[in-house]
Amino acid sequence: MVKSKMFGGNGVFYPIIGFASCVAFIYLSFGDLWIDIHRDMKLSFVERNGTQFIVDGKPFYFNGWNSYWMMEHAVDDSRKHRIRAILQSGAKMGLTVCRTWAFNDGDYNALQISPGRFDEQVFRALDHVIAESRRYGIRLILCLVNNLQAYGGKTQYVKWAWEEGVGLSSSNDSFFYDPSIRHYFKNYVKTVLTRKNTITGLEYRDDPTIFAWELINEPRCVTDKSGDTLQDWIEEMSTFVKSIDKNHLLTIGLEGFYGPKSPKRLTVNPEFWAADVGTDFIRNSKISTVDFASVHIYPDHWTHNPDFEYKLKFVSKWMLSHIEDGDKELKKPIMFTEFGLSTENKDFTPDKRDRFYKVILDIIYKSALRNKSGAGSLVWQFLVEGMEEFNDDFGIVPWKRSSTYQLFTEQSCKLARIQGALPSQMPYLRKLCTQR
Ligand SMILES: *[C@@H]1O[C@H](CO)[C@@H](O)[C@H](O)[C@H]1NC(C)=O
Ligand SMILES: *[C@@H]1O[C@H](CO)[C@@H](O)[C@H](O)[C@H]1NC(C)=O
Ligand SMILES: *[C@@H]1O[C@H](CO)[C@@H](O)[C@H](O)[C@H]1NC(C)=O
Repeated sequence: MVKSKMFGGNGVFYPIIGFASCVAFIYLSFGDLWIDIHRDMKLSFVERNGTQFIVDGKPFYFNGWNSYWMMEHAVDDSRKHRIRAILQSGAKMGLTVCRTWAFNDGDYNALQISPGRFDEQVFRALDHVIAESRRYGIRLILCLVNNLQAYGGKTQYVKWAWEEGVGLSSSNDSFFYDPSIRHYFKNYVKTVLTRKNTITGLEYRDDPTIFAWELINEPRCVTDKSGDTLQDWIEEMSTFVKSIDKNHLLTIGLEGFYGPKSPKRLTVNPEFWAADVGTDFIRNSKISTVDFASVHIYPDHWTHNPDFEYKLKFVSKWMLSHIEDGDKELKKPIMFTEFGLSTENKDFTPDKRDRFYKVILDIIYKSALRNKSGAGSLVWQFLVEGMEEFNDDFGIVPWKRSSTYQLFTEQSCKLARIQGALPSQMPYLRKLCTQR
């Protein structure tokens, strides 16, 4: 429920807000002016201490979302307003983290037109996304390439190498092992990380609005089931990122499947095939230049069992297993960077989706209560009205359904009650968590 009182009904602040009370006081004195003060808001880098993220010296557990489309929309003046709409609405829900694409390779409105050639207009659009996020106190997980074909991905890189006559193979997986393609990708990474934002004047690598870099969305390398090819690529690319940017945390972007090096964990996989896609959650995430692990949750796409209750059980087992890995094996935080229930299920109802979301949010809440490695979750995916062509079978317009809206806002309030609110969250949470 959103009904619980975070700030006390009689004007007495709960102790959890501690240092933040003075911020609240300023808010009370200046009212909506606060929203403008935000423009120059000081954010600090997200850090890590063992299994926990740390912000301003305190553990940080979060509630957030995915809006992959922001850069591509910001290019176009007629659609640019949607960036502010979604960020503002996320902030109003008390959310603090958004994951989005910092790539568009050779597609419509491409950032990278061809290897090493960038479109300045699209870069300015990404500048805008980052500057706006800062304004609303939202930190970004920026993903650097797609394993899938949308917005270019591996396939585009392989095509480029082929066209330039340097490609070793037409296999999409040559993205991982072809030296020319590795060079293309490193050049891309370097250009993005050292980009100077035309709005804030900050190089991306120096901007604390960026929570972390994600190497690649949902990597799979099915042509090498041993996992060695992908392991090698992650080692090389994560080391490369760290050589340019020592400020930001880094994750891989894995779905979370256990591989052949983790035989005891194989029964947790959704089905047998999951061990054979060239990834290995523990082995990959153990690499020292990887700061935290990422996991997705898609029982609809991963299992043949259509039973909803079975899916909920899978979700719990899947999450708890990975959180245990974080605490015992990896000693790193675990971030559930995508989750969703498909609207294409025969028995789909929005109520079921709310139940599905709640299982996930509750596990994160319990992890936060106990200082465990389950650090936060990012729902896939939020859109604003009129974006049907950008939807898949998981998208929601968060303010369209009040029970879903409440579920997410309640999670923000619950997390804030444990750990305190971030200064950037204060004005929003105040409204949100005190509503009767
Ligand atoms: C890091 O975590 C350890 C163990 O929980 C704790 O003792 C230590 O004070 C923490 N360090 C910082 C800088 O927060
Ligand atoms: C590479 O991936 C694309 C998109 O999934 C697919 O259409 C194409 O056939 C793949 N190429 C090869 C050689 O497998
Ligand atoms: C979790 O960590 C916080 C701050 O680091 C501490 O105050 C709290 O007692 C810890 N809770 C548990 C259950 O260990």
